[in-house]
Parts: sequence; structure tokens; C-alpha cells
Amino acid sequence: MSKLAAMATQGQVCGIDYSDESVAVSQKTNAPWIDVGRVEIRQGSVSQLPFPDDVFDLVTAVETHYFWPDPAADTREVFRVLKPGGALILIAEAYKGAKTAAAKLAEKHFPVAGMTLLSVDEHRELFTTAGYSDVRVIEEPGKGWICSIGRKCPKDSDSASDNISGV
Ligand SMILES: C[S@@+](CC[C@H](N)C(=O)[O-])C[C@H]1O[C@@H](n2cnc3c(N)ncnc32)[C@H](O)[C@@H]1O
Repeated sequence: MSKLAAMATQGQVCGIDYSDESVAVSQKTNAPWIDVGRVEIRQGSVSQLPFPDDVFDLVTAVETHYFWPDPAADTREVFRVLKPGGALILIAEAYKGAKTAAAKLAEKHFPVAGMTLLSVDEHRELFTTAGYSDVRVIEEPGKGWICSIGRKCPKDSDSASDNISGV
């Protein structure tokens, strides 16, 4: 959050997490930025983000989509809060089909735990089906990492401020 806040010099960074414990840790870690009003961290779910439509320039989702109750609907919910021209970056340290030990373990255990592990193609489909444009999926096969990026197609000219959300 603090790295994002340093980048978003004209705006605010808002973090959402489902767990009270994660919210408390993040609030402690980011206390200096919260104190000056540049970062806000709240309890909430990606399924019902506590924000109006079209407010964020960027939403980041790091190591979290495995847990989302309904990845297709939740990716659309993120789309709702993005400004036209804004982007979602989804980062994960495991994906289906990666050859790493961590990915193989995840492939075996995630379904049992009700968690989602997507393949490269499924990441792309998640974004395109939710309405994102300019979708790119970048893999790091040696490490089993994956980064998916998509943009909400701009309807008209964009705003001047930077607002970022981390889910
Ligand atoms: C592995 S942690 C990653 C946390 C953080 N993004 C990071 O990179 O440090 C996964 C987080 O996803 C959160 N999470 C699970 N379900 C969620 C939901 N429906 N909405 C928002 N966050 C959720 C969990 O509470 C947990 O803190």
C-alpha cells in the first residue's frame, strides 16, 4: 500500500480485505500513510466493494483471487469500480499447469478447500468475459508466477487524479 501511495501522488489508495486480522495487520504496516490521509484500509469483500462506480485508476489483487467466492462475478465487481481507462492487475504465485512444486500442491489441495486455481487460458477468459480490454497474461514458468492485466475501455476523456485500490 505504501509503495502505491508513493506512486499515486495526486490521489488515495484504498485497501479492502475480508479478514479483520488482515485489515489490522495492514493498518499497522501502513499507519504513517493512513495518518496523513493517503491510505485507507477497510474490511469488506471483493463481491460487494464499498465504493461507487467508476472511481479507481488501478485495482491490484495480489495472491487473493484463489479465495474469491465467485471469481467471474467478483472480477466484474472490480470492473464496476474502475474508471473508464482504469486497469486491474491480478498477481498470483501459482497457476494451474505450472510445473513448480507449489503449483502442483495447489492443484491438488485448492479444490478440496473450495479455492480456485486458474490456468493461463482461464485467467485470460476471466478478464475477457468480465468485459476487460487489452487483456495480457504474463507467466513466469520457472517460478510458477502469473500476472494478468486488463483495462476498462474508456468511454470519454479521463480524470486527472490517481486513485488506487488493493483487494
Ligand atoms: C494470501 S493473502 C494476501 C493478502 C495481500 N493481498 C498481500 O498480498 O499481502 C489473501 C487475502 O485474501 C483475503 N480474502 C479472502 N477472501 C476475500 C474476499 N472475498 N474479499 C476480499 N479479500 C478476501 C484474505 O482475507 C487474505 O487476507
